[in-house]
Amino acid sequence: MTTRPLLAALVAAGVAASGGASAQGSLNVYCSAQVEWCQAVANAFQRETGVRVAMTQKGSGEVLAQIRAEAQNPRGDIWFGGTGDPHLQAAEDNLSAEYRSPNMEQLHPWAQKQAADSRYRTVGIYAGALGFGFNTELLARRNITAPACWADLLKPEFRNEIQMANPNSSGTAYVMIATMVQLMGEEEAFTYLKALHRNINAYPRSGTGPIKAVARGETAVSISFVHDAVTERVAGFPVGNATPCEGTGYEIGSMSIIRGSRNERNARRFYDWALTPDAQKLGADTKQFQIPSNRNAPIPEGAPRFENIKLIEYDFARYGQSAERRRLIERWDREVNSLPR
Ligand code: F6P
Repeated sequence: MTTRPLLAALVAAGVAASGGASAQGSLNVYCSAQVEWCQAVANAFQRETGVRVAMTQKGSGEVLAQIRAEAQNPRGDIWFGGTGDPHLQAAEDNLSAEYRSPNMEQLHPWAQKQAADSRYRTVGIYAGALGFGFNTELLARRNITAPACWADLLKPEFRNEIQMANPNSSGTAYVMIATMVQLMGEEEAFTYLKALHRNINAYPRSGTGPIKAVARGETAVSISFVHDAVTERVAGFPVGNATPCEGTGYEIGSMSIIRGSRNERNARRFYDWALTPDAQKLGADTKQFQIPSNRNAPIPEGAPRFENIKLIEYDFARYGQSAERRRLIERWDREVNSLPR
């Protein structure tokens, strides 16, 4: 398991450069968005407030496991980004703290609902839909038509050509499993996942691992959030994306204050700040293409728009339940991941 602990640009802020404590104190951010965005957020907050920020980037499932392991002696203060289901699970398991930001009213209803569903222990900061990414050059070379439907991924021409992340570490992969269960019913979904397993060449740890493998030409197709496919395309890679014809799920990327935080005042300050349009614009600035939760934050140009996607009514309250999430991932481990390919 690789972790990427990063100290935000202390020097840029001109504070604590000598290693001494800043007058404004410090903040430990666990971040489950892409590392470029995490870094930009840490740097900007530090620059604007003088609070010394340390940031660690990890997948949504990994941060949840870490917060649980540290519950008696919390090291993190705030968890920024990552899919909503594990944030809801953290809320239910009393791992996050209740907080109602004065900026809540500026948010889209879906982001406020995420807060209400958790009794104000988490809040939506962005949203994005699940779909496919594919390497257009590889597909053309192999004369394979790009997938347009979930059903297409089971075709023999995709044997060994697909990646999705591992749901134990990745929130993205859990959204995929929960989406299939909601689309098909649980038994049919697991029949589908077992059939799909034959066409999978790897289950990387991170949700963005598969789309980065597509970009590098290591796999033809990924199951990914489509905003992450846009990130690779604007970086110059031959990457296309599609959302499934049968319908698809989506995430409400979330933020939670860790219960027992040693820097709760700064955690709240960061929380309020991260809900502002200026802070949310840092996503677009770092080539991230989710929909921001503040109604006044600009939607990044090129972001996949929900009105053009056939979305299911993803039941966040149910699939964010601690027991349900654990049960589905365990079933996937037992019945799918253990199968030979
Ligand atoms: O930052 C990219 C992203 O896809 C987010 O939209 C999402 O919340 C996060 O990664 C999920 O990462 P993981 O699947 O590794 O938990």
